[in-house]
Amino acid sequence: MARKKIAVLTGAGVSAESGIGTFRDNGGLWDRYDPQVVASIQGWYQDRKLLLDFYNMRRAQLRDVRPNAAHRAIAALEEDYDVTVITQNVDNLHERAGSSRIIHLHGELTKVRPEYGVYDETFSEAEVIDIGFEPVHLGDKAPNGSQLRPHIVWFGEAVPKIEKAVEVVSGADILLIVGTSLSVYPAAGLYRYAAPGAPIYIIDPQDVPLHDSRITHIRAVATEGMDRFRELLKNS
Ligand code: OAD
Repeated sequence: MARKKIAVLTGAGVSAESGIGTFRDNGGLWDRYDPQVVASIQGWYQDRKLLLDFYNMRRAQLRDVRPNAAHRAIAALEEDYDVTVITQNVDNLHERAGSSRIIHLHGELTKVRPEYGVYDETFSEAEVIDIGFEPVHLGDKAPNGSQLRPHIVWFGEAVPKIEKAVEVVSGADILLIVGTSLSVYPAAGLYRYAAPGAPIYIIDPQDVPLHDSRITHIRAVATEGMDRFRELLKNS
């Protein structure tokens, strides 16, 4: 029998127990920084050095954190299911926990690409460079001579992987959503593509803004929520 497909949509909450703060909780990153300044394409054009430093800081922080039991539990689902992780996170904790199929909707901290690529408005995957946890500075150039920029999807930019994500969600037997406030589109609208009969599980310690009869809200932090999700799967 074909293995059931699970699409897992994650946000900052799945990495919170690893020590990476979320964006919109009290004391979150957007309490301390203005996303229009540090996470928008306009911000980049206004002050490239500020943005390079901001992402250098976050990249360096990533070196010192580890995947938590929730990342590992998501990876372990692959023992019994065909799993694709769609993450809004720019960390690499799903990779480091062992998940093998991951769509990074908002880019990746450990990668950079030329500011101006082969196409004006977008880029080719072939131009993306893995730099690990190293910093990038003003004046660091890509092979094509253009300034290197973080491989991050900023506000005001397209989300090139959204079509692939829609395909994965619509083809899934089960949709699991972990640790996202579902406030940033297009990611926030992905659940609408779940197949009519597909159950949707949401793990989040806070209220969930969605109303859909298919939704089961597991009100817990990600690690505990994943244990409960496994139990529900066993009994379903
Ligand atoms: P948010 O900070 O908006 O939401 C985090 C969610 O995680 C909230 O619903 C919290 O209740 C929940 N949460 C907190 N601690 C948790 C825990 N230990 N376990 C499980 N859930 C927990 O983060 P995102 O929804 O990921 O984009 O934010 C979406 C996008 O907004 C980000 O990718 C980023 C940001 O601006 C860009 O920068 C483009």
